[in-house]
This record gives sequence, C-alpha cells and structure tokens, in this order.
Amino acid sequence: MRAVVFERYGEQAEVREVADPAPPTGGVVVRVEATGLCRSDWHGWMGHDPDIVLPHVPGHELAGVVEAVGAGVTGWRAGDRVTAPFVCACGRCAECAAGQHQVCARQTQPGFTHWGSFAEYVALDHADVNLVAVPDGLAYTTAAGLGCRFATAFRAVVARGRVAAGEWVAVHGCGGVGLSAVMIAAAAGARVVAVDTSPEALDLARKFGAAHAVDATAGDAAAAVREATGGGAHLSLDALGSPVTAAASVAGLRRRGRHVQVGLLPEAAGGAVLPMERVIGWELEILGSHGMAAHAYPPMMELVRSGMLRPDLLVTSVIPLDAAPAALAAMGSAAGRGVTVIQPGS
Ligand SMILES: NC(=O)c1ccc[n+]([C@@H]2O[C@H](COP(=O)([O-])OP(=O)(O)OC[C@H]3O[C@@H](n4cnc5c(N)ncnc54)[C@H](O)[C@@H]3O)[C@@H](O)[C@H]2O)c1
Ligand SMILES: [Zn+2]
Ligand SMILES: [Zn+2]
Repeated sequence: MRAVVFERYGEQAEVREVADPAPPTGGVVVRVEATGLCRSDWHGWMGHDPDIVLPHVPGHELAGVVEAVGAGVTGWRAGDRVTAPFVCACGRCAECAAGQHQVCARQTQPGFTHWGSFAEYVALDHADVNLVAVPDGLAYTTAAGLGCRFATAFRAVVARGRVAAGEWVAVHGCGGVGLSAVMIAAAAGARVVAVDTSPEALDLARKFGAAHAVDATAGDAAAAVREATGGGAHLSLDALGSPVTAAASVAGLRRRGRHVQVGLLPEAAGGAVLPMERVIGWELEILGSHGMAAHAYPPMMELVRSGMLRPDLLVTSVIPLDAAPAALAAMGSAAGRGVTVIQPGS
C-alpha cells in the first residue's frame, strides 16, 4: 500500500510503498477513505510522543471501510462503514470496566503506538470495543473528524466542561478542536467567545456560532475574554496547547470557573505553568480531556443526524496523500483556517 512515512523527527515525510497491515486478533484492517490532519500528528512528527518508534506512519483521525476482520471479532464484517476513537481501548482493564475507555491503561493509538491512517489501510485493535458505525448519509470526509477532534471537543465541552445553556464559554485556539468546541457549545445554548491569532479562524468561529471573536495578536486575550463576558467565562478551553493559551484560558475564567485542557502540552516541548494561587482562591477547576469512548458516541451521532451539529462544515480543504507530507510540515507555522482532510485513495 501507499503510506506517508517519516524516518526522522521533523524531517519531511515521503509517500512510499510499504507492506499492507494484517488484522490483529480481535481487530480489523480498515481501508482509509478519509483521514484528518490533526495537530497531534504534527506533535508526533516533531518527536513529542514517546510512544512513536521510527520509521513511522502518522494518522489517527479516520473513517473508512472494514477490509479484513481478525479472529474473534463478532460485531463487524468486511464492507462496514466505520470510524473509531483514536484511543483504542482494551475493553478489559479497570478503567474500561468503569466505562472510562478514553483513559484505558492498555490503549493503543493508530499513528502513535503503531502505524496510522496516512495510508491506504490501517489496523485497529479491539474492534468490538472501539468501532463506530458511520451512517450511509454521512460522508467519509465528515466522519473522519469524529475519530478525533470533533468527538474530543464534544466530550471536553459536554462531559468534562459540563456546559450549560446561557453560560459563557471561551475557546482559545479555533482550529479543528476549537471550531468543533465553538459549534458544540453554541448548540448547547452557551454564549461563546472565540480566541485565535488568525482572522480566517475567527471568521469561521463566528460562522459556527461564536458571539464574540478575540484577536489574540491584539493584546491580553484573557482581559478581552473577561470584558466580553462581564467578568470571565464559566467554562474555558485551551484548544491549541501552548503555555500562552493555557494561561490565558485560566486567567479568562470567572470565580469557580472550569478550565479544560485539550491542546497538548508535551513535556518534550516544556509543558506549562498555571497560576495555582488563583485556582485556590477562586476555586477554579482544572480538567483534562482525552478523546471520547466509542460507547459515548450515540448522543453526539444523534445531534449530527438531526443537523443540530454540522461537522461537515468544518472541512475546508480535502487533499490527496501526496500532499500530506508538506501539509504536515506546514502545521508548524500555518495560521488556522479550518480542517484539512486527506483522501489516501485519491
Ligand atoms: N486531548 C485530546 O484528546 C486531543 C485530541 C485532539 C487534538 N488534541 C490537541 O489539541 C490541539 C489542537 O489541535 P487542532 O488539530 O485543533 O489544531 P489546529 O492547528 O487545527 O488549530 C490550532 C489553532 O490555534 C490557533 N492559534 C495559534 N496560536 C494561537 C494563540 N496564541 N492564541 C489563540 N489561538 C492560537 C491557530 O491559528 C489555529 O486556528 C493540539 O495540541 C492537538 O494535539 C488533543
Ligand atoms: Zn487528533
Ligand atoms: Zn482498557
């Protein structure tokens, strides 16, 4: 099969022929119809993920068709249209037994712990635990995002952030995760303040329901959020992952506000420092959010089916596999302008 391969961190990947994957016991091989270019792929390519072994094929936000089924799989067969959360849970550890598959102690992740979906085919573990059916009417380019950023934003806003109608929600970083969060929070009846450095990203955030847009290049983003919200957001997300956006998200909260960290802050890139005096004195909540378990998808899928949520609108660019290496490298500097999806078959 053709796949995007990199041999060294931060050096341009290339498209080449590699061996087809075989379905693992309990798992499947999926023919990749669409795979999103997520900033986590860029983190992996930069060497921020200790799970990656070189040479490597990135890609974890995918949708496609089951091509081959491994021994022991009962719920899926060749030809099924599927996506899967990028955290492929084991289904059997203590966390999984408690329903918390998104933090499975024995999770595997395509594009991190093994070769991923910037390829014609990808192997996924524990299919009966992790696969999610893609309805016939949902395009693969839309469904790909449900494998990572849209679902991650859904859990971050709804389950971790406990968004409520009428609340102020700030979203720092309006790319794939952030624009999804804007759309989901607005659909929940929250008033959203979008923060980004890119005018195109802020335009998209307004289109997806943000009531205010804050240009982070214009000065103190947290102060602008506090002003727009009459004293601070009830809920705020760092949907980029940087010391600046993490700190601004916390500083833009009102008393007893909730910060959800979604953007990665890898140790290898220096992590981040948060103002713990403020966390104590204002009783702020600092929450992490990591993907979303397959069993938690039905309410989100129903909102997509009904048209309340429109992940299709987030996709601003569809590119062939040959364009993926340059697009991955460009994430280091490119301004946000929506979601790019790769079609490995094209
Ligand atoms: N926790 C999880 O489960 C999970 C899942 C998916 C992605 N992620 C992480 O979430 C983060 C976002 O991923 P993505 O693919 O949406 O990224 P993206 O590149 O699509 O979007 C990032 C956005 O941040 C904006 N930005 C840059 N500097 C800024 C600043 N100083 N202030 C405000 N905005 C700024 C960019 O213009 C862009 O619009 C990444 O760290 C990714 O690895 C985490
Ligand atoms: Zn991702
Ligand atoms: Zn588990």
